[in-house]
Amino acid sequence: MFKLTDKIAIVTGASRGIGKSIAETLEKAGAQVMCVSRHLEDVQKIADNLGNAGSEAMGFACDVSDTKSVTSLVQSIIEKYHRIDILINNAGITKDALIMRMSERDWDDVLNTNLKGAFNMTKAVSRTMMKNRTGRIINISSIIGLTGNPGQINYAASKAGLIGLTKTTAKEFASRNITANCIAPGYIETDMSNAINEKKKETLMKQIPLGRIGKPEDIASMVQFLSSDEAGFITGQTITVDGGMVL
Ligand SMILES: NC(=O)c1ccc[n+]([C@@H]2O[C@H](COP(=O)([O-])OP(=O)(O)OC[C@H]3O[C@@H](n4cnc5c(N)ncnc54)[C@H](OP(=O)(O)O)[C@@H]3O)[C@@H](O)[C@H]2O)c1
Repeated sequence: MFKLTDKIAIVTGASRGIGKSIAETLEKAGAQVMCVSRHLEDVQKIADNLGNAGSEAMGFACDVSDTKSVTSLVQSIIEKYHRIDILINNAGITKDALIMRMSERDWDDVLNTNLKGAFNMTKAVSRTMMKNRTGRIINISSIIGLTGNPGQINYAASKAGLIGLTKTTAKEFASRNITANCIAPGYIETDMSNAINEKKKETLMKQIPLGRIGKPEDIASMVQFLSSDEAGFITGQTITVDGGMVL
């Protein structure tokens, strides 16, 4: 079940946290995984370890907010593999501040990475996916995009934006057998969430009915399912993976 044998997958933000786990999970399911982050050394390490499981994995340095870099990244992957089957838009950052103190720079940085980055990647893979009449696009949003959160206006707007971006992608690409879905993770243990202070973490924990913090693998297994043939009739959806935090 949920096999991805020989599928060509791109995972952005694959150098650590949720993206690393997604890359590992897709590879175990049989995919050839192209791992992307801004720092080649970090992402190459992940790709080298993946290569051990038998399939081919590669690391690429690319800032997803930079349209030219994204175009040339995707072109180089298509030149080698002639297709892209799966795109996981996972790269994301936070730059938190209350609205009155939020700088224009921090607003732009977060929107450019989290939202424009996903647009850049989606546009860049669209031609080859349409030509091949198959594809899976999965965008990693956040429960913050559903609920809002004080101090995260840029992040919340970017993650809510991803939901609209996903629905539009789903509608535009459906006739070519390409699905697009969103995952909204809750509180998942990674470097990003480790930046939250201990008191806030305790409060968050109390809001999770399943009584534990999520693991990157909890998100990766949903990504594997949505990437598979078995999920072929699901598109335009946002699936919350949060231990019941937002009900
Ligand atoms: N952790 C949570 O609780 C949680 C909850 C909800 C949603 N999410 C979402 O899940 C995704 C992954 O989060 P995480 O917790 O795993 O974060 P993380 O540990 O901070 O990892 C972020 C990844 O994104 C890459 N990245 C950042 N900016 C990039 C850019 N401009 N271009 C390419 N790659 C970039 C980073 O690598 P480089 O620094 O090398 O570029 C890194 O690989 C994010 O979209 C996040 O918003 C996380």
